Amino acid sequence: MSRFGCVLLLLLPWCIFAASPTGPTRVACPPGGLQIRSAGVPGRQTLSSQETSYINQRTSRVLPNAWASYLSNAERATPAGPFLTDTFNRDLSSHIPRIGIATSGGGYRAALFGAGVLSSIDARNKTAVKLGTAGLLQSATYIAGLSGGSWLLTSLVQADFPTLPDLIFAPNANPNGGNNQFGGWLTTVDLTAPGDANTTLLFLEGLLEEVLPKFEAGFPITITDPWSRTLSRHFVNGTTLSNILTPGTHGAGVLYSDFPQLSTFKSFEQPFPIVIADSVPPNPDTKEIIPGNVVPLNSEIWEFNAFEVGSYDPGLASFIPTSLLGSTPGNNCVIGFDQAGYIAGISSNLFDEFNISGVAIPPLSTFVELIEGFVGPEPGFHLDTAVVPNPFKGVHPSTFSNSKQDFVNLVDGGLDGEVLPLQPLLVQARHIDTIFAIDASADTEENFTNGSDIVNAAKRAALFGNAYPFPPVPSSPDIFVKEGLNRRPTFFGCDVPYDEAPLIIYIANGGPPAGQVAVTNTSTEQTTYSDVEVQQFLNQAFDIGTQGIPGTHWGTCLACGVTDRTRARLGLSRTAECALCMEQYCWNGH
Ligand SMILES: *[C@@H]1O[C@H](CO)[C@@H](O)[C@H](O)[C@H]1NC(C)=O
Ligand SMILES: *[C@@H]1O[C@H](CO)[C@@H](O)[C@H](O)[C@H]1NC(C)=O
Ligand SMILES: *[C@@H]1O[C@H](CO)[C@@H](O)[C@H](O)[C@H]1NC(C)=O
Ligand SMILES: *[C@@H]1O[C@H](CO)[C@@H](O)[C@H](O)[C@H]1NC(C)=O
Ligand SMILES: *[C@@H]1O[C@H](CO)[C@@H](O)[C@H](O)[C@H]1NC(C)=O
Ligand SMILES: *[C@@H]1O[C@H](CO)[C@@H](O)[C@H](O)[C@H]1NC(C)=O
Ligand SMILES: *[C@@H]1O[C@H](CO)[C@@H](O)[C@H](O)[C@H]1NC(C)=O
Repeated sequence: MSRFGCVLLLLLPWCIFAASPTGPTRVACPPGGLQIRSAGVPGRQTLSSQETSYINQRTSRVLPNAWASYLSNAERATPAGPFLTDTFNRDLSSHIPRIGIATSGGGYRAALFGAGVLSSIDARNKTAVKLGTAGLLQSATYIAGLSGGSWLLTSLVQADFPTLPDLIFAPNANPNGGNNQFGGWLTTVDLTAPGDANTTLLFLEGLLEEVLPKFEAGFPITITDPWSRTLSRHFVNGTTLSNILTPGTHGAGVLYSDFPQLSTFKSFEQPFPIVIADSVPPNPDTKEIIPGNVVPLNSEIWEFNAFEVGSYDPGLASFIPTSLLGSTPGNNCVIGFDQAGYIAGISSNLFDEFNISGVAIPPLSTFVELIEGFVGPEPGFHLDTAVVPNPFKGVHPSTFSNSKQDFVNLVDGGLDGEVLPLQPLLVQARHIDTIFAIDASADTEENFTNGSDIVNAAKRAALFGNAYPFPPVPSSPDIFVKEGLNRRPTFFGCDVPYDEAPLIIYIANGGPPAGQVAVTNTSTEQTTYSDVEVQQFLNQAFDIGTQGIPGTHWGTCLACGVTDRTRARLGLSRTAECALCMEQYCWNGH
């Protein structure tokens, strides 16, 4: 991919210092220095011009057909026959529903759960076609991922949007494919301990050797760096089973800012992808933290997309180009910092969980010892976080928590207690009317989801005034569990006026469908899966996603749910079938 970057850069005078394909490089800045885009104040925020253009093109060129085929398939699959046929379908292109998909954190469990549910709405899945759920993935405008969900999303995007089974198993990968091909998730090889003690040590040292050039270029090395190099082997192009333990390129040089060169991105076939992480303020302990978490709930959430990095949270509301991540204000520009593996690594950096008492414990301590063995001590740096040069130093000193810092500490997007990446989908400038939320965080003793992510998301949204409109949801996970809202799809916001807050269609990993033995409630710490386990996991997640139970009419009801806001906007009432669906799936607010 770096060759694309170079072609682009060659057009500009500052290209002469083009990046090495494997790590960040200092370059001369574009004329005028690092440009910081202000996103504006809530209610009047703006998107980048590139994102606006992508969304406009996707909406006009791709989505009309995608929606027509999704809805006609949903109707075909419905025993009751057509249920949306009225003026709504006749001129779809003038009123495309705006759907955002959110896929949660929770390690491999969340990545696999998200993948199984995405398969269940993928137009290419024949079973989903029969059930009438196929095609919602292709009809979505946005998709956001966090932590395990960022592994799923990053790998899917950079592999050019294959089907989920092809992504995960890569049945046709050539053993010598290099960065031009994706070799699958390779779940049979453990993420951090791929062999016996000696093999593992050699492997970990190899990961550090791969990031030495970054250190030599003058950037601090923290746990996120070697972590990213192992994630790269599983979730970025350039690795197969036969070379995974051998040092090498393994996806280095695949950049977020190069995604626009992918063929499915150029043709606007992908929902616009966004990955998030939490920033840690300088004195986190002095702020309100939800018990059991490590990041204050009001800390800025940063987002990474193919064009920009920054935050829409009102205290910062600023962005820089993704290609210049690593740069600081003025004329200190860097390229090659936005490695796809590194961004997935930031979003899933949960290692400060292993340093709550201020004393690092394994696996953090093991990595830290290795890092210090390689590069010596790095005083002043939090090695348990991703340490990123602060592009916004000096911006909004009274409201941006890290305004005075030279470096920002970024960590796993779920460490504030909101393990679902809803925040980027709530940004009003994105006009998302319906969120399809896939939640697989391990909340209960049996590693099932209890709804705490939605509860916390609502709490967080409430901290920002009118910035993030949010529908009413239960006030505690107890209610979720008691009412079984984590055991079946639930719609939140059915009775809220369409222009006041999005409708949330919530699908949780709350328990297996009736009659099945649970396989999707694996521990977050499980970092190896056999192919058989993966297939069983995907199948069960698919069943949870499709409510594969005869008589539920899920295909019908999903289509009713995702079009409900648009119908309301058009002044159309619910059809009889849809009214029944809403009765069945809407949270009744008790
Ligand atoms: C990754 O490999 C796939 C083929 O497996 C290819 O289509 C895609 O363009 C590659 N992505 C990058 C970023 O090189
Ligand atoms: C691991 O390395 C040590 C020291 O080099 C050696 O003594 C030991 O036999 C090795 N163990 C294995 C299982 O290869
Ligand atoms: C652990 O946390 C303490 C207190 O926040 C910090 O000073 C220290 O650098 C952290 N340790 C590592 C290895 O990052
Ligand atoms: C729900 O999950 C959260 C977060 O994992 C946990 O703190 C809480 O105790 C759980 N509550 C219930 C009722 O299961
Ligand atoms: C998964 O759930 C089942 C109950 O359905 C339970 O017996 C099992 O211990 C759980 N597994 C894990 C790893 O929590
Ligand atoms: C998940 O499963 C693991 C392994 O069975 C267990 O140790 C852990 O306590 C479970 N619960 C959570 C919330 O991780
Ligand atoms: C469709 O989903 C089923 C159930 O998980 C799976 O077995 C099959 O491989 C999927 N096919 C495609 C093309 O996604």
